[in-house]
Amino acid sequence: MSDTPLFKVTIDNISVEVPAGTTILQAARKIGGEVAPPAMCYYSKLKGSGGKCRTCLVEVSKGSEKDPRPMPKLVASCRTTVMDGMEVKNITSEKVLDARAGVVEFLLINHPLDCPICDQAGECHLQDLSYEHGKEGTRYEFQRRTFKKHDLGPYIQLHMTRCILCYRCVYTADQLTAHRSHGVLDRGDHAEIATFIEKSLDSDFIGNVIDVCPVGALTDKTFRFKNRVWFTKPLYAHRDCDKCCGEVTLWMRGDEVFRVTARKDEWGEVKDASNGETGWICNTCRFEKKKATDWQIEGLAEISRHSVIGQGKYKNLVRPEETVQKVMGGQKPRLLMDIHSVSEVNRPGIELSEINGPATSSVFSK
Ligand code: SF4
Ligand code: FES
Repeated sequence: MSDTPLFKVTIDNISVEVPAGTTILQAARKIGGEVAPPAMCYYSKLKGSGGKCRTCLVEVSKGSEKDPRPMPKLVASCRTTVMDGMEVKNITSEKVLDARAGVVEFLLINHPLDCPICDQAGECHLQDLSYEHGKEGTRYEFQRRTFKKHDLGPYIQLHMTRCILCYRCVYTADQLTAHRSHGVLDRGDHAEIATFIEKSLDSDFIGNVIDVCPVGALTDKTFRFKNRVWFTKPLYAHRDCDKCCGEVTLWMRGDEVFRVTARKDEWGEVKDASNGETGWICNTCRFEKKKATDWQIEGLAEISRHSVIGQGKYKNLVRPEETVQKVMGGQKPRLLMDIHSVSEVNRPGIELSEINGPATSSVFSK
């Protein structure tokens, strides 16, 4: 047994025990549902990620059992570790919701609204974030950033205008490939992901930058403009591969394989493979095995994202846990309210099943 002490932390009125050293974000993910703050830059599989985008801000209303003072400012939950007895507010804090709407507005200042032609539409984390936490209007009237085009080789398309500078692809290139020819150049609104001297990204594992990119800044050139992701059918499949785990999701339409990606978990991160390691996949599996006969198909993929790609047609659709009642201290959400206690419109005394024929207004007339 591990000697790490367990700390009790309460997030949005729900308590959970986690080992010391756990971040607030990870503790909230343990609870699940809307209690888990959104994360645009943190990626549990990439060392050093997080702390860039501020979408995961939360309010710490009690620091710990020993020092119950609240933290003076909102904190990034992906970078703040829990203390014993800590109390945190996420969706129960007006301040957090307001700050998050501000962060979304900032992220969208320079992000083009080209969802109708973007290959990431339907699985874009920024799209989901703006629906869930954004405001409908923009106050920005100026020209958005533009960039010189960079060629990232035959497989990966970079749309720098869509990049939110989360650094996930930089960490991926750094941690999965032997040499790094990819990084962030310049500062402020000139900052950009680029290759030095437009070198092609030729490492076997570089395709994984596509899977970690939360927006459509890095997309798969072999899938580009071929299909909308929600028209394709995701299937788990595997093959014997000498470079990677060979466990993938095939995105098919009929017998045609349109796209190959790694398998993702409910947070949109690459899942662990059956060998217990992170299921990153190699470029051969991702870009070159585009025939159904290249693969042993296992069955329908588990889609846990709540966006349009999960709409009703896949098995094991994991919907986020309904936590509103717990969060609201036992109060039922308003939609579950018993209408008879507040409305005269319905007549609970009338048993619909005993009426001959359809129930019409005459049944309810006095
Ligand atoms: S290209 Fe994508 S993954 Fe890379 S920094 Fe930009 S948004 Fe993040
Ligand atoms: S996810 Fe925490 S700052 Fe980006």
